[in-house]
Amino acid sequence: MNQMEISFSATLDNENFARTAVGAFLTPLNPTIDEIIEFKTIVSEGVSNAIIHGYDNSPECHVVMKMTIEDRNIQLIIQDYGKGIENLDQVKTPFYTTAKDLEHAGMGITIIETLADSLEIESVINIGTKLIIKKRLKDNGKL
Ligand SMILES: Nc1ncnc2c1ncn2[C@@H]1O[C@H](COP(=O)(O)OP(=O)(O)O)[C@@H](O)[C@H]1O
Ligand SMILES: [Mg+2]
Repeated sequence: MNQMEISFSATLDNENFARTAVGAFLTPLNPTIDEIIEFKTIVSEGVSNAIIHGYDNSPECHVVMKMTIEDRNIQLIIQDYGKGIENLDQVKTPFYTTAKDLEHAGMGITIIETLADSLEIESVINIGTKLIIKKRLKDNGKL
């Protein structure tokens, strides 16, 4: 069992930090390039949602990321204490978005769900949102 937890300011400047931290933490498991890309994509979508939707880009707020590795089973938690998800039952529907600008296609949660083995979302209005993401790394062939 190996574990990490980080907390960072809710600014998109930290999106790459979050991606890189997760990639670095996985490195000892010798993941494939594809697996690293998949994890980084999951982190980008989850962290940008926390920053943009959860916190409306407020750098005084914090996003928390926790990762647990057990054998090759990865659990990743991405958590904010922001405004919460209005329609939790609709959020996994492709193209569902509450954002008005064209940059937001409403595919972030769908992408996470597709790349992960499982995605659980806990969210309470004005308390925050927690994504619980599980994904198993392929066996790397080493004894
Ligand atoms: N952390 C969050 N806090 C509040 N609302 C969220 C959060 N994550 C997602 N949402 C809501 O779910 C919707 C869908 O998210 P997503 O699939 O990533 O699409 P997009 O970010 O393009 O709108 C968002 O438009 C937003 O309403
Ligand atoms: Mg999104």
